[in-house]
Formats: sequence, structure tokens, C-alpha cells
Amino acid sequence: MSITFHHNNIVHIKNSAISYVMEVVDGKYLVNRYFGKSLREYRLSGIPHYFKRVYNTEHDCSIENVSFDDFPFEYPVRGFGDYRIPAITVTQQNGIEFINPIFKSWKILSEKPQLDGLPSTFAGNSKVETLEILCEDKQAGLQIFLYYSIFDDKGIITRHQKIVNTGNQTLKLQNVQSLSLELPAQDYDFLSLFGTHAKEANINRFPIHYGIQKIESARGSSSPQHQPFFALMSPQTTENIGEVYGFHLVYSGNFMAQVEKDQFGNIRAQIGLNKDEFCWTLSAGQSFTTPEAILNYSCNGLNGMSQNFHWLYKNHLMPKRFSDKIRPILLNSWESMYYDVSLDKIDVQSSIAQKLGIELFVLDDGWFRKENNSYSSMGDWVCNENKLAGGIKKVAELIHSKGMQFGLWFEPEAISENSDLYRTHPDWALHIPNYKPTKGRHEYLLDLSRKDVQNFIIQTLDLYLKNNLIDYIKWDMNRPLTDVNSILIDTERKGEVSHRYVLGLYKVLDTITKKYPDVLIEGCSSGGARFDPAMLYYVPQNWTSDNTDAFDRVGIQFGYSLLYPPIAMGAHVSITPNHQTGRTTSLNTRYQVAKLFNLGYELDLTKCTDEEQNEIANQIKQHKIERNWQLNANLLRNDSPNENYAVWSLVSEDKSQFEVVIFQKFHNPLFSHGKFKLYGLNPDFDYMNVDDKSVFGGDELMQVGLTVPLIKEDFHTFSFKFVKI
Ligand code: DGJ
Repeated sequence: MSITFHHNNIVHIKNSAISYVMEVVDGKYLVNRYFGKSLREYRLSGIPHYFKRVYNTEHDCSIENVSFDDFPFEYPVRGFGDYRIPAITVTQQNGIEFINPIFKSWKILSEKPQLDGLPSTFAGNSKVETLEILCEDKQAGLQIFLYYSIFDDKGIITRHQKIVNTGNQTLKLQNVQSLSLELPAQDYDFLSLFGTHAKEANINRFPIHYGIQKIESARGSSSPQHQPFFALMSPQTTENIGEVYGFHLVYSGNFMAQVEKDQFGNIRAQIGLNKDEFCWTLSAGQSFTTPEAILNYSCNGLNGMSQNFHWLYKNHLMPKRFSDKIRPILLNSWESMYYDVSLDKIDVQSSIAQKLGIELFVLDDGWFRKENNSYSSMGDWVCNENKLAGGIKKVAELIHSKGMQFGLWFEPEAISENSDLYRTHPDWALHIPNYKPTKGRHEYLLDLSRKDVQNFIIQTLDLYLKNNLIDYIKWDMNRPLTDVNSILIDTERKGEVSHRYVLGLYKVLDTITKKYPDVLIEGCSSGGARFDPAMLYYVPQNWTSDNTDAFDRVGIQFGYSLLYPPIAMGAHVSITPNHQTGRTTSLNTRYQVAKLFNLGYELDLTKCTDEEQNEIANQIKQHKIERNWQLNANLLRNDSPNENYAVWSLVSEDKSQFEVVIFQKFHNPLFSHGKFKLYGLNPDFDYMNVDDKSVFGGDELMQVGLTVPLIKEDFHTFSFKFVKI
């Protein structure tokens, strides 16, 4: 890994996987020259040639006939000839939207900078070097610091920007992207993850067209509609072959991600805050830091990209104390009790759970509600003792007395109209004076930009956590933001509220997780509505989706596995017919879908027959054996011979063992059998199937493949475990 300067105008950031090269032209224009597979050295190859065009602008630049409209600016602005999407837009006090920042200096930092008030990746046990580049518009009194951190030997560069107002005037940041990248003209596919509640992380892949293509969230949180991620890749790219550029934003609020293909086919790709939902007043002397963006390059297809993300998020983003910690197998009360919780039910369910080997009992929503619905009590967080005599203390003691851990559900950001909190502090809800706020799931959201509200949430959680009664929290958030206004924020700063909400959330999470580092927090937002890298910095696992149907879960977990390691996802075995889809699948199938992730159960155990309970006990026994090596194993997706299959495998770090799970979606006589080439094995090892003792070479399994017959059943699961002999 190194950052080297050549001839005073070229910088080469590299490790054994990637190179990122920039040039300063004429001492002032910072341009991108290359990002991709590692180069030994860059000697100015691939420089574009320009020819005189009639309808064009002319520039103060030594490059003959240069056109700024296809000049590969590293951090572009509009206003003097580059008409493509800008990375930064600033309005000066005179009302004119114009800045002209030029390169000033660069230097190497030997560490990974942390971002003020924002979650970000950290060096941990790896070596990281950072390049800091300063660009300046002296006239405007504006400095832009660009940061590039490179990790040892992985295809990852992290980016963020710091904008400083060094002058005397007030500046308005209208748009400030976390990353802008130029890629050469060639055909690319765009890939993103779209979805909705209970059907998150669907794959959206299409060829890039001329003009702008964009995904975004304006919902106040990262949202299930679009993950703050996209990838650009050659059209031939598969799970295992081809070049991929991945972009992911470490942020939980409004974002945008866009790609522009210009008139000549050049690509400009950006990700950052959603400029339509943002305007930040930067007074003299103030600075603003953008969220961090992750840039990921793989020449080994989508699996290569995923391996980079998984490695980064497990080792350099989620809390270190949890990244190598076995997660407890849990029973969650939601689908068995919904709001109608009682001490008796908890006692019965947890007793069976304990016998079956479950380690953590999670009391979900309902425990504080006045009635068995979502219309009231949010914000009061007082246990309803008519349901649970003795309160949460009693429940926790009951669970602990059975040798299990106890977890509790909260939705700390929400407030019901019918709550003492709202009656006392109606102004604490996001609202616009003289307008009736919009409810979502019968609730409002607290104005997390306010310090008093942040402190209220911290104190509320503190009350429950300080007595060591709670080992786990499910941190839910069940609605998008509306009425985005804080009455404490000045008129000229109203455009800051949604970002300040997110900063407030991070402040609360930071305080709680620092004070109670051992409490395991599972993030949730009606499932995956706020499953993003920034949340992962505080909470090491996320409830993947409210859809617990095994068939649908394959697609959802498959999609999320593009970005997140299995240890970041919660996967539960629930009852059939499934509560969300009405579909019936076997208990074994449900386990096969969940077993490589953080395993949980979410069903009424009293409704399981003795046979089913035995099966669950065996699943848990098996999982407790396998999870030790699975903790640090690599999850890989396989290319399927046709869309009737989905396949994933988990290969141990030393490649000495692996599991493959193959899902046949339907019985379809058009297909004779499934044949799958496996990935990520050691070609020199011989592996034995632990069930039928058949032996295959790693090379054979990777080059020829494994076959499964067509089964007369919809949604059939095949599972194989192999060990090195
Ligand atoms: C939405 C979550 O995703 C569910 O798992 C459950 O916790 C409910 N909220 C409770 O209201």
C-alpha cells in the first residue's frame, strides 16, 4: 500500500488490488486519470485527445482544444463550461450560485480520519493511509478538503469531504457529494437494490443510457425503496467474472446516487446527500463534513465486490467487540404474541425455548401499550403492568432465571398522539406550525435535531439499561419522515433539519453504545427500511425484513448479501402458513434459509408438535456446532444455470470446510437438473460430503460442478456440508 507523488503533479494511491490516479493540470485543475486494477506505475497513458468544436467554451488551460464539458474533473463544479452533474454547489452571499475551487496542495496522513459526528470506517488492525487534497476558492473564502483512505490489499477506497468557510461571508451549501468518480467511455450496466416494506433488496440491473440515471431517498431514512448503493460493471459481469465498481454511502438519511453518461460516453458517478432535501448555512469560520462514501473495485465479478464490502464492514465498521462474537440464538415474541403480551405467555414460551437450546428471549412490541394496537403510548415507555405485573424487571428476572438472556423492543424515535409525552411536549414531534402533522403507523416522530429530545431518549433507555436487566435491544423505527421541521431551527437553516435529525440519531446511538458497550443492539426499521452501513457502525446486526417467508427471504438475503456479511443480518424461522405471504414451507426449508445468518425463531412454540420441537432442538444443536467456523467464513453467491435456482455457499476462512445451500424455486420440467460450479474453494484440497461420504477435488467442484436432480416440489432446498480430508 502506498501513496506516491510523481513530477509534482501526479498522485498514485495503490495497493496490490487497486490503483487510483489523479493529475493536477497546469497546477490548478484536479482531474482523475485512472481507477481500477493495480498498476505498477502510471506514466500518463490513456490521456484524452481533444479537437476544436464549434459550439463549445474556451478555457485557460494548456491542453490544446480542451473542452471542460468532458474533462475528468475530480470534484466538479458548474458555471464555467462543465455542464454535467456537479459534486458541489454553493451560493455566495450575493445570491450567485458559483464557486471556482482550484487545487492548492496535497499531503499524506498516516491514519484513517474519523468524521465529526458521523459514523465511518476505522483502521482497526489494518494499515490505512490517507491522502488529503486541498482545493480553494479564495474569492469565495471556501476550502474543500478531499479525503482518500486506502486499506491494505483490498479494493476499497473511502472518501469524504470537509468544506470550510474561511472568509467573512455566509455561504449556502446546496449540494455536496461524498464522492464523484470519472470512468472512461465504455458500456456499463447499472445495478442497485430496490424494494418496499417486506420485499427489500431486489436486484435492479440495466444498461446505462445517455443522460442521467438516479436513485434516491427523500424519506428521511435510507429506506427500503433504494439502498444507498449502486454498482457499475461491464455488461458481461457475472457473480464471478468481470469488473465492478461499487459505491455505498455510510449514511442513514436522504441520499442520492446518480450516474451521467455524457455526449461522448464518459461516465460521471456520484453518491452523497440528497441535494433536494438539503441546504446548509455555513457561517464564517464554520465547516461541514460529508458522510463517508465507500468506493469498491473488483475484477472478480459481484462476489469480489461483496467480499470487499463484507471484509470492510465486519472488520472496519461494525463495533469491534461484536465482529468476532457469536450471536445468541433468539426467540422473538412478535409473530407469536403481537401486542398481546402476558407474563404467562412469556413464561411458557421461554421455558420451551430454553429446553430447545435458545439463548435469548426478545420481548417485542406491546409491553408498554395501553391497548393491543399501535395507536397509543409511544414515547411513554412505561410497562403496562396489567399485562406484565411486576414490570420489565420481573420479566427480565424470569428470563434470566432460566439461564437465558433478555432482550427488549423499543422504538425510541416515535411518539403517539395518545401519550403523556405528546400531551406534555407536543413541540417535540416533527411538525410545521399551523398544519396537522402526518401520522405513519399511527405515530409521529420526535424531533431528533433537538438536544432536549436526544437527552430524553438517552435518559429513557438509561433507565432500562442501568440495572443490567437487558442484554439486547431491538431498535425499531416504523415510518418515514414527514413534516420535516424543527421549531428551534432558525428560518435560514430549515434546510438542515433532516440531516440534523440523522446527526441527532447518531449522537443518541453513540452515547448509548459507549455507555453500554455489551448490550447487543439489533437495528430494525419495519425490517430493512434503515439497513445501511452507518447503522452498522453502532448496531452490529439488523432485522433484515418483516417478511419471514422462506421463499421470499432467499431473494431478500441474496440481495443484501451483495453488501453485508451474514453476521450483519437477522434471519428467523417462523410459522407456516407464513403470516406475510400465506405460503407453506417445511420446517427444514425455513431453517436452511436462515441457518447461515444470525439465527432466530419467531413463532408460537406451543403450537409446534413434539416432532417439530425435536426438529428445532436438532437445528439449534447443529447450528451451535457450525456457527464457530461460520463466524469468520465467507458468504459467496453462485451463478445459476437458470433463474429457477438461487445458490449460496459459506466457505471457512482456511477453506477447509464449506456449506452450500441450493434453492430450487419451482418444479419446472423445462430444466432437467441443476449444475453449479462452486466458488472460493482450494483447488488443491479434496473435500468429503459429510452425509454420503463422496469425495471431490476443490478444482473439480469449481471447474465441473455439483449437480442436483429436479425435485417434484415447489421451493425445494438442497444443503451440503463438505470438509477437507
Ligand atoms: C416492525 C418490526 O420490523 C417487527 O419485527 C416488529 O418489531 C414490529 N415493528 C413491532 O411493532
